[in-house]
Amino acid sequence: MGIRLLILGANGQLGHSLSQHAKPALGETLNELVCWGKDKVDFTKPDQIVSALKDVRPDVVINAAAYTQVEKAEDEPDIAHQINAKSVGVLAEQAKKQDVVLVHYSTDYVFDGTLGRPYVETDPLAPVNAYGQSKAEGENYLLQIGGNWVCFRTGWVYAQRGHNFAKPCLKPPVPATNCIL
Ligand SMILES: NC(=O)c1ccc[n+]([C@@H]2O[C@H](COP(=O)([O-])OP(=O)(O)OC[C@H]3O[C@@H](n4cnc5c(N)ncnc54)[C@H](OP(=O)(O)O)[C@@H]3O)[C@@H](O)[C@H]2O)c1
Repeated sequence: MGIRLLILGANGQLGHSLSQHAKPALGETLNELVCWGKDKVDFTKPDQIVSALKDVRPDVVINAAAYTQVEKAEDEPDIAHQINAKSVGVLAEQAKKQDVVLVHYSTDYVFDGTLGRPYVETDPLAPVNAYGQSKAEGENYLLQIGGNWVCFRTGWVYAQRGHNFAKPCLKPPVPATNCIL
């Protein structure tokens, strides 16, 4: 009997990649794979998160949904906070209630980078912007609520789908004609 896996935020860079690779990677270990994007589970509507877990009854839920627009978050910190923090709390609560393993993703933006040595997991959080603040608060919900979770702090996610730093680097250079130097 394999696991039931639910992926939320399944249309983003990470969520889409995980959705594509789950079956080949897990093989017979995977019994059922459910991949839902924002259209099905909107993190600004936390009741949809609760319903999703109740409906699918997964063994493992991967949260690839996030508000990732770093600059825009300065103008709409409440939405960033709802998606990256409050709703992560709702997800963690429901996962704990149903004994579901929660896999969550955070960011190096929870640190300010001034420590002067490589960071370890337990270093104090010191976000310097609204996005980092919202992700740090999401982490804090996980710590406070407990349950069975793992959180990856990543930096520079890139994939074939979506916007990332790698894509412009791969474009052919624009010929330097008609320019005044
Ligand atoms: N990208 C990076 O360089 C980077 C670096 C460090 C950490 N991370 C973290 O890694 C994780 C994955 O990032 P990513 O690069 O895959 O991000 P992404 O491509 O922006 O994907 C995020 C997904 O979340 C969805 N989403 C946005 N608002 C939502 C809402 N209200 N309800 C449900 N889903 C919503 C987006 O849908 P729409 O596109 O339809 O809005 C998108 O499909 C995130 O936790 C992020 O914070 C990313």
